[in-house]
Amino acid sequence: MSNVVALLADWIKAQKLQGPLMKDAPTFYKNLEEALDVRRADHGMFTRHKSAWKAGASIDFCSNDMLSLGTSGEIRRAFLGELAANPNFAMYSGGSRLMDGNYDYIEQVENEIAAFHGAETALIVGSGYEANTAIYSAIPRPGDAIVYDELVHASTHDGMTHSLATCRVQFRHNDVDALRDAIANVLDSQPMIADGTRSILISVESVYSMDGDICPLIEMIEVAKEMCPKGNAVFIVDEAHATGILGPKGAGLVSKLGMEKEVAIRLHTCGKAMASTGAVILGSPAVRSALMNFARSVIYTTAPSFPTVAGIRAGYNLMSSGATVKLQNNLQHLITHFFTSIEANPHWEKASEMGILSIPVLEDWQERDFQCHIVPLKTRQRYNWWLVFHLQLSGISAFPIDYPTVPRGQSRIRLMFHAGNTEEQVELLASTICNWAAEMIEIEESPDGAKGKIPKAAHQVYGLMAANA
Ligand SMILES: Cc1ncc(COP(=O)(O)O)c(C=O)c1O
Repeated sequence: MSNVVALLADWIKAQKLQGPLMKDAPTFYKNLEEALDVRRADHGMFTRHKSAWKAGASIDFCSNDMLSLGTSGEIRRAFLGELAANPNFAMYSGGSRLMDGNYDYIEQVENEIAAFHGAETALIVGSGYEANTAIYSAIPRPGDAIVYDELVHASTHDGMTHSLATCRVQFRHNDVDALRDAIANVLDSQPMIADGTRSILISVESVYSMDGDICPLIEMIEVAKEMCPKGNAVFIVDEAHATGILGPKGAGLVSKLGMEKEVAIRLHTCGKAMASTGAVILGSPAVRSALMNFARSVIYTTAPSFPTVAGIRAGYNLMSSGATVKLQNNLQHLITHFFTSIEANPHWEKASEMGILSIPVLEDWQERDFQCHIVPLKTRQRYNWWLVFHLQLSGISAFPIDYPTVPRGQSRIRLMFHAGNTEEQVELLASTICNWAAEMIEIEESPDGAKGKIPKAAHQVYGLMAANA
């Protein structure tokens, strides 16, 4: 627990305004501190910290190690096996991929990955961020349009800002009718797309990282086909949060739906459920060549070296051998156990009726054949911090999510479930959340209302804050 208090104390210290102390400092540093003070004033200054769960002082309901391949050591064992099988490996790749950075092992692993996902080709890059900037800066041609879900990842936005596409149109999240309207707007305004000589690139994610909901991909593909019968609307699907978790052996949403031939480009990241680093872009030989020739983030960087590729292969070996299927299944079991535990808690119903807490993905969960490991817990503004303090002080690691990661007014806590969590941990999570909710119900129902009253954990943290001021 002392790790948790130390973490909170560090975070509190980091919120102290620095600008006023920098009056005589050089302009460059003073300006930087003043820019950071905007965050600090809002208690939104992020700090580096050592996660309490990594020190065994808290339960992990926040990391991306969803299959627990990292914490269980399975990925390390598979990686060491890869090293042992290739004792003469090179630490370096020797240059960028188109110069000296190509080598047999990376090509072999790419072929294996392409086969695993039922894709024509695979290209390994350094990260999902690099992958999205590569895709969106290199693939759209002048005259093309990008139509994208409003909640796509920041890396997609960064890629799009460098794209040659003539127009970019966003549509309401996961809304098939909104996609239809967006395509109609593009067809109306872009004659070369309407006549089929330019393309619409539709950008979606299979699992949305802050909402834990899933793209209605089949319906979207149907709409695109219907509206663009010449076949010039293509899909780019970011499978970052589906990799390892969703679909046969974790191959992703596109594979689960059997839509491999309907999707032009897929992105799989290896730093989340696969517990290593790097990313893979799947597509046709033309897509691969365009990425290697046009994407600055592929051309002007050193190709991934053997250790990175060996880590990726280790993860793929675990998936393709079927070793991760039991983990996928256990994850599903734990999420449903959380849903039933929280719904059965005597405080849950009232807390949700009063608007103190809501879990949008709880709705109709019994009707879904897949539960997402990302469970957003929505609450009132500021309450997300109070609940996080309560969880952290109870030995549960979770993080609040605020603007700009999510739109203003949509603050939440993002719970992440892991195959290595236990039923007891999940029950503790549900009861701890509901104990906090009971406290909030009491505060909101007290005769003098919620004004000025704060729950115990927030009191403790703000006390620490005052002491550190
Ligand atoms: C949807 C999505 N795409 C891409 C990325 C970037 O992946 P990476 O962390 O490998 O750079 C992330 C990471 O959070 C993500 O959530």
